[in-house]
Amino acid sequence: MKDEQSHRVPTSDDIEVSTYLGIAKELHGEQSAPELKPLPPEERETIVVIDFGSQYSMLIARRIRECHVYCELVPWDTPWQKIAPLNPRGFVLSGGPASVYNPGAPVALSYVYDKHLPVMGICYGMQVITHQLGGQITPGEKHEYGHAMLYLNTEDCPLFAGLPPSFSVWMSHGDQILNLPKNFKTLAYTDNTPVAAMGSDDGVFGLQFHPEVIHTPMGKTIFQNFVYKVCGCQGNWTSANFITESIEKIKKQVGDGKVICALSGGVDSAVTATLIHRAIGNNLTCIFINNGLLRRQEPERVLNTFLRNLKMNVTYVDASERFLERLKGVTDPEVKRHMIGEEFIKVFEEEAAKLGKVNFLAQGTLYPDVIESSSASETKASATIKSHHNVGGLPAKMKLILIEPLRYLFKDEVREVGMALGLPEDMTWRQPFPGPGLAIRIIGEVTKEKLETLRAADWIVMNEVKKAKLYRQLWQSFAVLTGIKSVGVTGDYRSYGYTIAIRAINSDDAMTAEWTRLPYDLLARISDRIVNEVPDVNRVVYDITSKPPATIEWE
Ligand code: XMP
Repeated sequence: MKDEQSHRVPTSDDIEVSTYLGIAKELHGEQSAPELKPLPPEERETIVVIDFGSQYSMLIARRIRECHVYCELVPWDTPWQKIAPLNPRGFVLSGGPASVYNPGAPVALSYVYDKHLPVMGICYGMQVITHQLGGQITPGEKHEYGHAMLYLNTEDCPLFAGLPPSFSVWMSHGDQILNLPKNFKTLAYTDNTPVAAMGSDDGVFGLQFHPEVIHTPMGKTIFQNFVYKVCGCQGNWTSANFITESIEKIKKQVGDGKVICALSGGVDSAVTATLIHRAIGNNLTCIFINNGLLRRQEPERVLNTFLRNLKMNVTYVDASERFLERLKGVTDPEVKRHMIGEEFIKVFEEEAAKLGKVNFLAQGTLYPDVIESSSASETKASATIKSHHNVGGLPAKMKLILIEPLRYLFKDEVREVGMALGLPEDMTWRQPFPGPGLAIRIIGEVTKEKLETLRAADWIVMNEVKKAKLYRQLWQSFAVLTGIKSVGVTGDYRSYGYTIAIRAINSDDAMTAEWTRLPYDLLARISDRIVNEVPDVNRVVYDITSKPPATIEWE
């Protein structure tokens, strides 16, 4: 099997322009800005998550953000000089694959204890605390993995406030605590783990289970208790505060400078552009390149939203013919990707050159990309999905300074900010759409005629999925024009037409995906409509493969 990362090249960001459905209808004139008040710097509060390399570290950060408390995930060896400006209110020590007695095993740096801020260690994080504060760890007799019932020893621990005396938790550990460090008490146990939670009077806690995973249903309350009751946070990390602060920051950074932004129509570039537009108005120029590989009505919808409704400065380039010309005779998926990526960069550069002096390039980089590229952990599940989404390669050549206003946001936060900015729901919740667009959903050579056929089939899939109110629940749903032709009967005639495949999947991060059990009735409607309404198609099949072993896209 090919390396998944190798066949991905930077193209036009996560184009995702597919579902501009309704934007034009929903947006009447300019959106009014939400009431915004900047946050005084002294009120900024951060929980710092010290990352020991657990596959769940990013989840911890997400859970804390869900409590409306800002947090950052930092490698375990990050020095205090980098932490201090964050104004930390507490630390969470993540799990990790090591054992504290391994030579060179990562530990917490001294500031984690010396600053006398609250600390919550999870799994390996708890073992680190125990080891560093003088307790003892032992390899567990059994590796404990899966659900366990947790029994609380205490009723008045703030970390467990509002929770029942016993509840289900998710365990995944080998080592366990043999002797507690001085001044620590056992707060909870399970059948196999005598010390499943521990705490000291000065706000240092350890949990042997994982409160961050959905398999610990009470986990959210534990995080809420930690950030509000133990760390004393206010919960002021809101979209409105983020928007105000970003706008001020962008104004300061850009001054009178000029910014360009490749508008893909995807939620990330849309929110990026809207924030920057709010900050600097027409000193932002968006470039929207139609590569001819977009879904039906996409270009019109992008223009309607950004040009007419949001009144942004948008340069529209219809480069369809150029892209199609490059793709003539190309059948190899990787070659397709490279050509589309290269052509995109060429067109973008040409258009940018026409704008005169430009100082900045805006990009919709998200926090998972930042974490992936800066993390000390080699074991982290790689978020390769985004690396190929960004307009990488552009800035170095063009000597532009990068602006990345979404650099510290998770995708769900970007969506919230998009809503708070007044972008229509249909757009903020758009399913991902690959940069090379329909080219990688047409098996074999891409031609104008095949694009039209796929567009027509894809339009029906999207339409029916939306009508069935399933669009938001699905990670992606789309049609593929397979290279197969087969025999059929239409009326009294024998036909020889294309086979369309339908793909619908559920996923959290596109790294793995499960094929969706779409209702038969829905599949029947989609199939009937496609064979009736789309010329040259006489067969529809449903892709029932998960990822792995299949990828989401067919190419
Ligand atoms: P695969 O097919 O690798 O897709 O399972 C994972 C996710 O990435 C999207 N995808 C791409 N996005 N450029 C993109 O911008 C690409 O070349 C590309 N290839 C796949 C795909 O739609 C899915 O969400």
